[in-house]
Parts: sequence; structure tokens; C-alpha cells
Amino acid sequence: MLNRDEKVKIAVLISGTGTNLQALIDAVENGSIKNGKISLVISSNKDAYGLKRASKHGIENIFIPSEKNDRVDNFEKSLTKELRERKIDLIVLAGFMKILSEDFVKKYPNRIINIHPSLIPSFCGKGAYGIHVHEMALDYGVKVTGATVHFVNEIPDGGKIILQKAVEIKEKDTPEILQKRVMREAEWTLLPKAVSMVCDKIMEEKNESL
Ligand code: GRF
Repeated sequence: MLNRDEKVKIAVLISGTGTNLQALIDAVENGSIKNGKISLVISSNKDAYGLKRASKHGIENIFIPSEKNDRVDNFEKSLTKELRERKIDLIVLAGFMKILSEDFVKKYPNRIINIHPSLIPSFCGKGAYGIHVHEMALDYGVKVTGATVHFVNEIPDGGKIILQKAVEIKEKDTPEILQKRVMREAEWTLLPKAVSMVCDKIMEEKNESL
């Protein structure tokens, strides 16, 4: 629960390079995200470059391993503990490669957001992640793709859409070229904008309840 004048505490979950995380860090530092601060970065991959980005900016960052005991993955148990300890208000999935369970997601209604590199409902859902999303768009032959930021519910990529931005597909695109254009022209601006909007809304609700 937030106190008066306290910013929304954000945890960013990553698995890789963390360019979207970097866009969020920059937006907090340059004041475009006014009502939020990144309190924690969590990675499901210990070598994720995103962890270094967080360190460089003095943001606490941790790696949570997937430990399978008796086939039960303890990842979410540890995740819940870390989030609770720091009283995290908002979870942002920014290139996070695990699908969170229904039980976990239900604990954070409208408090988990994800960025997906296509215009949902195209090229999304289970199996549509990373470079595969762009391969699917090129294989289908669509002329426009883009990015979507949405709330996370129990259906993969099925939660309420917050923002979308279209990106043109060009004749000679490869999945890699398209991936870069979608990031540059859509993801890196869309995610900070959506996070800012959600933080403002959380602050508004908090002020109403005071
Ligand atoms: C992005 O394309 C994002 O949309 C997808 O995974 C990629 C992560 O890239 N979910 P990065 O780690 O933010 O550079």
C-alpha cells in the first residue's frame, strides 16, 4: 500500500538484453515517468545483460533460478517473496521469457503489464515470443506489424490492451531487421508511455482513497 507522496514501486522482470528496461530507466531518469520508480529488476537468466544495466543505474537487481523440486518450479514462490518484501505495486514484464501461472497472475489484477512485439491479436499467445513473432509476421505476409502493451491475465497475451503502435514492414525485411525496427519505432517509446499511464492511474486511485 502506498503512503502519501510515495511513488509507485515498480519491479521489472527480464530474461535478456534489457533494451526495454533501459527505455524505462531513461524515462524515470528524464522525468517522463513521474509517478513511478524502478525499485527492483528480477531476471530469470543469470547472464542477462539487463542486470548490468540495472547495476549501472544503482537499481537493486537479482537473479531468481528455476529450481524444480519434485517437478514443482519454485520460481514463483521466490518471486512472490521478493516482491512482497519490497512492497512492489506494479510488475512490468520486459522481455521476460517465462509464462506466469494463473495462480500468480490472479494475485495482481491490473498490476502486471507486458510488452509484446506485434499488434495483438495477431502473432501472439503460447509459442509467439522473441524473434519467432517477427518470423510469423513475415511468413504470413502482413504489411504492417507493431507492438502492444497490455495487462497480464491468465490467458497468454490475452489481457486488456493499454497501448499499441503500428510499424511498417518493408520488402527486404528479415526477422532480425524487423525486430530492430519494431523496437526502435514502437517498443522503446510505447512501454515507458504505458507504464507512466498506469502509474498515474495507481496514484490517482491512492489519492482518492486517502
Ligand atoms: C522485446 O521484443 C519484447 O517485446 C519481447 O522480448 C524482447 C525483449 O527485448 N517481449 P529486450 O530484452 O527488452 O531488449
